[in-house]
Amino acid sequence: MIESLTTNDKALIYTECHTRIEGLLETETDLIAGLANVSAVLKEAFHWWWVGFYLVKDKQLVLGPFQGPVACTRIAFGKGVCGAAWAQNETLVVKDVHQFPGHIACSAESNSEIVVPVCKHGAVVALLDADSEHFSCFDETDRLFLEKICATLGHLF
Ligand code: SME
Repeated sequence: MIESLTTNDKALIYTECHTRIEGLLETETDLIAGLANVSAVLKEAFHWWWVGFYLVKDKQLVLGPFQGPVACTRIAFGKGVCGAAWAQNETLVVKDVHQFPGHIACSAESNSEIVVPVCKHGAVVALLDADSEHFSCFDETDRLFLEKICATLGHLF
């Protein structure tokens, strides 16, 4: 991650990411191709430890396109930060993952995390997950902009 980003810095970078993502998805409707490039755009922009998607399949989450180290492939409903965000159908911003009951540590390097639902017709179809090696990396600005980005992804499903 880029250290010490101000809210304005973040907003600027997210706005550029959003424009890039809209451009990429204008011409691509394939789910895997689309989500792979969304992960790449965010990784290039913010250099987070890990960023990618978990897809809802057969009542569990299965690892989808991502950028970063190897991650766990399946997460049950309600389990970990991802499973909790799925169950609650809301974004979870976790400033210290070690304090989150049931956090699933795919990587020992991760210290903070944000998980944002992607919905189609109101139902969660995937989750965007970003992890940082820094504590308190994510805040309300990340929530706001990542929710906007995720709101544009439902049509891929
Ligand atoms: N930490 C997540 C698991 C996924 S990895 O971070 C990529 C969780 O608790 O659900």
